Amino acid sequence: MDRNRWHDRYDAPDSPLARRLATVRERVRLALDDSPPGPLGVVSLCAGQERDLLDVPPGHPRREDVRARLVELDPHNVDAAREAVRSAGLAQVEVVAADASLLDHYAGMAPADIVLLCGVFGNITDRDIERTVDACTQLCATGGRVIWTRNRKSPDRVPLICRWVEERGFEREWVTDEQQFRSVGVHRFRGRSRPLRPGERVFTFLGYDRLRSATRARDRRPGRPARPTLSDRPVGSVELAGSMRPGVGSVGFVSAVGPVGVVSAASRSPCAPRAGAPLRR
Ligand SMILES: C[S@@+](CC[C@H](N)C(=O)[O-])C[C@H]1O[C@@H](n2cnc3c(N)ncnc32)[C@H](O)[C@@H]1O
Repeated sequence: MDRNRWHDRYDAPDSPLARRLATVRERVRLALDDSPPGPLGVVSLCAGQERDLLDVPPGHPRREDVRARLVELDPHNVDAAREAVRSAGLAQVEVVAADASLLDHYAGMAPADIVLLCGVFGNITDRDIERTVDACTQLCATGGRVIWTRNRKSPDRVPLICRWVEERGFEREWVTDEQQFRSVGVHRFRGRSRPLRPGERVFTFLGYDRLRSATRARDRRPGRPARPTLSDRPVGSVELAGSMRPGVGSVGFVSAVGPVGVVSAASRSPCAPRAGAPLRR
């Protein structure tokens, strides 16, 4: 789907995406309320038109403390986000037109108090989700929060994401009800932030449709094991399976798709949907 039109779905009242946005905004506000006094750093990866953060109402006690960097590649979205920032009068929020997968763009901002990863995990491979989660130990400050989203389309990746995040020193603060198709999660970092590693690229943004068709094609491949394993190469590797097309977006080659299985331990996670429970879309 066109990356600008994607945002229009936010404007349909009570659409699943609008409900997700409301949840993210609420979680951002709660995170701001709960953050220690002083400057508050926020980074947003693939920020889109940045609707999550700009909701902080005038008069919110932490509004003036927020210093944010929003990284977005699509020029139309960048313009929209800049315009929204300008009209919201948020002087300390910068919108950077760049590839959010490259960690260099967070220099001077990381580790941040809030890391927004909304609308990303449903568009990248499992391997890249894990790399991005791993990079959160560089992006997020001790005591800070990662606010993330992911749909629960089968195979549900929410349990896996929770597991990967929690293996890296994050504590689960909140995850939407299992029956919500569009999940939002909040994890708080209890570990020690690692120094930022410039030059590291952590994902290739395939987009939802490409990811789905590539996953299906991969599943049809002869000889494919019925129940694949998780990542088959080390997390944190800088090697990129696909290529980037700067200025156009970061659509990778189909071959970038990695393993798509879910281990049984992950499916037993408390975030896993109950058998037969209807999903609200
Ligand atoms: C699904 S939208 C989510 C936008 C926003 N975070 C939200 O939740 O409303 C994904 C966004 O990522 C942007 N994008 C895709 N690849 C990117 C990249 N490599 N770097 C920065 N932005 C990218 C798209 O242009 C699009 O605005």
